[in-house]
Amino acid sequence: MTILKTAVIGCGSIARNRHLPEYEANPSVEITAVCDLVKKRAERTAEPYGARWYTDYEELLKQENLDLVSICLPNYLHAPVSIQALDAGVHVLCEKPMAASSREAEDMITACKRNGKKLMIGHNQRFVPSHQKAYQLLRAGELGKVYSFRTTFGHGGPEGWSADGVNSWFFEKEKAIIGAMGDLGVHKADLLRWLLGEEFSEIAGFIENNAKKEITVDDNAVCILRSESGVIGTMAASWAYQSEEDNSTVIYGERGTMHLEEDPEHSLVIQYANGNKVKYELGRIASNEEGGQTGSYVIDHFVDCVLYDREPLIDGEEGKRSLEVILAAIDAENRSTLLKTE
Ligand SMILES: NC(=O)c1ccc[n+]([C@@H]2O[C@H](COP(=O)([O-])OP(=O)(O)OC[C@H]3O[C@@H](n4cnc5c(N)ncnc54)[C@H](O)[C@@H]3O)[C@@H](O)[C@H]2O)c1
Repeated sequence: MTILKTAVIGCGSIARNRHLPEYEANPSVEITAVCDLVKKRAERTAEPYGARWYTDYEELLKQENLDLVSICLPNYLHAPVSIQALDAGVHVLCEKPMAASSREAEDMITACKRNGKKLMIGHNQRFVPSHQKAYQLLRAGELGKVYSFRTTFGHGGPEGWSADGVNSWFFEKEKAIIGAMGDLGVHKADLLRWLLGEEFSEIAGFIENNAKKEITVDDNAVCILRSESGVIGTMAASWAYQSEEDNSTVIYGERGTMHLEEDPEHSLVIQYANGNKVKYELGRIASNEEGGQTGSYVIDHFVDCVLYDREPLIDGEEGKRSLEVILAAIDAENRSTLLKTE
């Protein structure tokens, strides 16, 4: 049996809550090494897996003979570290948002092709059971023609999640590049592109930093999107939903309305135009406070793609298109029309 050697670069929350436990649970993988700038964090993370630890990712890539690597670093490091890993001959699973710019995303895709290695972006929302079911139902025409949608992802912010709490890189423009939109909006941009099976062609948006004045990135955003075929919808992202997390999506179609991750018991509900209601019990997305989604299938999918030489569901091109939706929204923020106030 083939055993793939993996390393995880960045030992913060997503590494500890998702990548490491899911690699550990996969019988085809051995966790060989981890890396974090904070020595104690690297040491502590390596210990339960019997892995080697590093504080310098270049050193890790030089010393270890790896098959795979997960990039669980602040956003500004996604592209440079992914490219170095691909050039070192390692398959890369990079967290979202894929990169800090379209150009960087393109460079990652080029590095992936140049080295003949896999590049996957960690857009886990596609693997959530209710979203998988919605994809099947929409493809089967269950809602008929889709007209519109609303989707939102918001919680209190990464203060309670990031390894560095209130001092996190998530709040610094130079390291995060984009705030709530890059953290949460990009998940929904990716989900809706996939569910609708088409690209967005137009976007308008208001991207604000109106809740946390001490930070240098956006914390609230509302966008309006139009797809190539004319489906229209709103997408909101927030680090200032002060009560419960909201990770819901509603899709309005000719034959009814589909509610995803709204009802705590039934993660998919369809209200048909004829009055019938069908509720599916498929489990629900775990919130940030619960440690986020585990058993996400992201790692298993990536490992399978490497083992069986398949293209990942979310490859570099897919990651780039989802990134470009939020980059376009930020660009659109600068072009809104002022209403007359007198
Ligand atoms: N797919 C998802 O659902 C999901 C959820 C949360 C976070 N993420 C993404 O994962 C990435 C990491 O987020 P997180 O929540 O784990 O952040 P975090 O703040 O908890 O952890 C980041 C870690 O990176 C380390 N680090 C920073 N610079 C480094 C360097 N040069 N070399 C080595 N280590 C370095 C930090 O010390 C820290 O331990 C982000 O891009 C984020 O958007 C994805």
